[in-house]
Amino acid sequence: MTATFTASDAAQMRALARDVLAPHLRAGDVVLLTGDLGAGKTTFTQGLGDALGVRGPIASPTFIIARTHPSEVGGPALIHVDAYRLNSLAELDDLDLDATVDDAVTVVEWGEDRAEQLSEDRVHVVIARTRGGQVDMERPDEGDRTVAFTLFGERWSGVSLVG
Ligand SMILES: Nc1ncnc2c1ncn2[C@@H]1O[C@H](COP(=O)(O)OP(=O)(O)OP(=O)(O)O)[C@@H](O)[C@H]1O
Ligand SMILES: [Mg+2]
Repeated sequence: MTATFTASDAAQMRALARDVLAPHLRAGDVVLLTGDLGAGKTTFTQGLGDALGVRGPIASPTFIIARTHPSEVGGPALIHVDAYRLNSLAELDDLDLDATVDDAVTVVEWGEDRAEQLSEDRVHVVIARTRGGQVDMERPDEGDRTVAFTLFGERWSGVSLVG
């Protein structure tokens, strides 16, 4: 199923992550984020991190590929990956991440077409400007974003995401 929401600013984007997706997440889950530069992928991940109670700050991991944020509440860690410069993430476990995909919630920016191998059970989140076009990085705060969630695999069957 696909469920679509709108976020008109960064706070709403974090709230969407926290209220719509995070309550369903548990260890082993994989979330792939798609959207242009500045769409709001990291902002969305920050909302997930807040909700999961992991140690922050969550920032764009562009220069390090992946970072593990341990839980501060005895739950799963958050593995935050930036796949922008990678061709495939077949062996994410080869990275020295202090956590494995099975034990953590793994969120991959630019994950579509790169990180599907991580799991058959996945959430794809596609973020786009409601008006279309690229984000003007001089004025990233302009423009609502649509956020479309699509659920794949047995693990997500019967789950419906509501705002
Ligand atoms: N509705 C919105 N949702 C998310 N972010 C928004 C929204 N409106 C404005 N912003 C701003 O847009 C920027 C989004 O940046 P963010 O780093 O989350 O994007 P990104 O998709 O991770 O980019 P990159 O491809 O560089 O990793 C932030 O400055 C944020 O405050
Ligand atoms: Mg980012």
